[in-house]
Amino acid sequence: MQVLVTGGAGFIGSNFLNLSVPRYRDRRFVNVDHLGYAANLANVAETAKSPNYAFVRVDITDADAVDRLFHDHPPDLVVHFAAESHVDRSIVGPRAFVRTNIEGTFNLLEACRKYWPKGRGLFHHVSTDEVYGSLGESGAFTEATPYDPSSPYSASKAASDHLVRAYARTYGLATKITNCSNNYGPYQFPEKLIPLTILNAIDRKPLPVYGKGLNVRDWLYVEDHCEAIWAVIDHGGPGRTYNVGGNNEVRNIDVVRQICRLLAEETGQREDDLLALISYVTDRPGHDLRYAIDATRLKAECRWTPQETFETGLRRTVRWYLSNKAWVDEVRSGDYRKWIATNYADRTQP
Ligand code: NAD
Ligand code: DAU
Repeated sequence: MQVLVTGGAGFIGSNFLNLSVPRYRDRRFVNVDHLGYAANLANVAETAKSPNYAFVRVDITDADAVDRLFHDHPPDLVVHFAAESHVDRSIVGPRAFVRTNIEGTFNLLEACRKYWPKGRGLFHHVSTDEVYGSLGESGAFTEATPYDPSSPYSASKAASDHLVRAYARTYGLATKITNCSNNYGPYQFPEKLIPLTILNAIDRKPLPVYGKGLNVRDWLYVEDHCEAIWAVIDHGGPGRTYNVGGNNEVRNIDVVRQICRLLAEETGQREDDLLALISYVTDRPGHDLRYAIDATRLKAECRWTPQETFETGLRRTVRWYLSNKAWVDEVRSGDYRKWIATNYADRTQP
């Protein structure tokens, strides 16, 4: 069996490959990535030594290149991670999100339609809970919650979900979709809240918190997300959608405080000195208040349960960033520096 993993040099895709390649020696994995700013082949350096792994550089917005990819490496399973994934970047420059997340997904679906005879193949689409928009103080997203995306990122992911379902209904393509909450863990590009806070705190830089820090996210350790994807691939119903979440609802300000505590415990620094770095900055436009996931369907149909609590997963994550300085230094050069300087440097207090 050949498994084509798009976006396998990014955060979740590389964790997925690191878990999968050694485990499934009878399968061949092809990592397809255009190596954009968030990608890093160092994320899969160990995995790349395996004989059942190959890397192919392809931009999924290039329809001809995607067609060639399917011709040269005919897949039995596509696990589609590749995307522009950062909400703040989608606010600054939405075009790339429309191109990769909508058109790129469309190109992959077209290739599946062309190369897979009826009954062959499975297209697993990795999506986000942000397609459902924002919750108020109570309730949780179920698979029946109407789509109501707020940002160009979530709107583009919503469009891609609709395309995937349309290909299942119209052309009979075998598809599955997972909509997951916020991931954290090793190899996450340090533009997202958790790695940004850890690295800024290590460097004693301000810890930017949007608005009053009262927005709530549901946090899931990345390996638990990857296991959920396999659980759905192996046990999920055809054409079904599954919400994935950690049952770890935390206010942003409490995420930042918890990181300060863990970092103090891990390094011997004074927690109060780290807490003093917290800096409230102008809120994100269209900022969703709260996400929460009802994962009943996934647990009941696919026998999945997350292994990490927020405390254990966050400690693992803090330790990982502390002990992978070379990775951090490499990632924080180049485009990252430009992005931070242009978009995150001059934020005023609300
Ligand atoms: P990421 O930004 O770390 O990685 C995305 C990867 O896709 C990168 O390696 C990038 O180079 C690649 N890519 C982007 N555009 C491409 C293109 N045109 N052609 C080929 N490759 C391209 O993102 P992530 O956090 O790993 O997210 C992976 C997937 O999971 C995304 O689809 C995202 O919407 C979804 N998701 C993420 C989270 C989260 O909390 N990070 C939660 C739920 C769902
Ligand atoms: O819910 C799933 C989504 O989670 C994924 O689909 C996205 O790909 C992923 O980026 C993530 O989106 P968020 O916008 O929730 O993640 P981010 O880490 O950017 O922000 C988390 C929360 O922290 C959010 O409420 C905004 C806030 N924030 C973020 C940054 C970068 C801050 O307060 N300060 C910051 O500097």
